[in-house]
Amino acid sequence: MIAFPPQPYCHLSQVTVVGAGNVGSTLAQRILERNLANVVLVDIVEDRPQGIALDLMQSRGCEGHNRTITGTNTYADTADSDIVVITAGLPRRPGMSRDDLTQVNGKIVMETVQRALDYSPHACIIVVTNPLDVMTYLAWTVSGLPSYRVMGMAGVLDSARFQTFIAMELGVPPRDVSAMVLGGHGDLMVPLPKYSTISGIPVNELLSQERLQALIERTRNGGAEIVQLLKQGGAYYAPASSTCLMVEAILHNQSRILPVAAYLEGQYGIQDLFLGVPCRLGLKGVEQVLELSLTEGEQAALSRSASSVKEQVQRCLQDLSV
Ligand code: APR
Repeated sequence: MIAFPPQPYCHLSQVTVVGAGNVGSTLAQRILERNLANVVLVDIVEDRPQGIALDLMQSRGCEGHNRTITGTNTYADTADSDIVVITAGLPRRPGMSRDDLTQVNGKIVMETVQRALDYSPHACIIVVTNPLDVMTYLAWTVSGLPSYRVMGMAGVLDSARFQTFIAMELGVPPRDVSAMVLGGHGDLMVPLPKYSTISGIPVNELLSQERLQALIERTRNGGAEIVQLLKQGGAYYAPASSTCLMVEAILHNQSRILPVAAYLEGQYGIQDLFLGVPCRLGLKGVEQVLELSLTEGEQAALSRSASSVKEQVQRCLQDLSV
């Protein structure tokens, strides 16, 4: 028997993913297979997270990693997580208005954030549940955390979609394309061609205004196009990849500049709202909100998006008596 010397204390990162649906389980897989952290997957449905966890544990040998995943219905099992990702929610059903969905998911987000924070009071929160910007505001409100510890995942996904469509149009690899989309995660998002480049070349030098506009429209419609094709449920591969990028930036203290739904206190003329803007992400969470110079038209589009999100937040806070 070989005696191994005692190991010095080494903190193994742990990420809690709340919601073992399509986005949550795909995100768990990405986190494990990129060797970023151990994962605790929580869901309200009994046995589902346990089944997904067992399946993912059994793939470890083939995938060549030694990370662990626990599936559970009990928040005590999530204790001491570094990051809590909220993907729990219900999809919109026929006959349900947007406001109905906001109320239903609002209750779920408030409950799950509170229960997770009972066991991981210092965690960073990443919200994925839609309507994203409203849910992120609610999560922050009930969390009692400093605003830089709470953020929403939308800008990375919207920018990834814009990046994809530009790359497909030009026949270049997506990694050569850097795209930027600001604003709320909805029809009023604000893709910014001025800050979108191909290997440093501004996108409007390689694409006509007409083609660019078509790609912007497709980006705005990016989620709906997939819903229409799938018939049931929404996108989950790209949402999981986008969230995983944020998890990595935080855990590895990368200081990456990514567009995320962050709390604004006057930046871009917007007060007391979570909205998609470029941020520096690191161990602390949102370490800096970057203010880009915008044209009058871009600023007006961002303000329109902000007003729409603000109205939704106010209605939601009122409906839920928060
Ligand atoms: N606590 C824990 N889990 C819950 C709760 C709750 N109170 N309520 C619902 N859930 C779980 C469901 O049981 C389900 O497993 O949330 C999961 C949601 O999964 P899906 O319906 O597959 O939805 P998904 O496609 O993963 O999307 C999740 O992300 O991108 C957004 O719009 C999307 O809001 C949606 C969220």
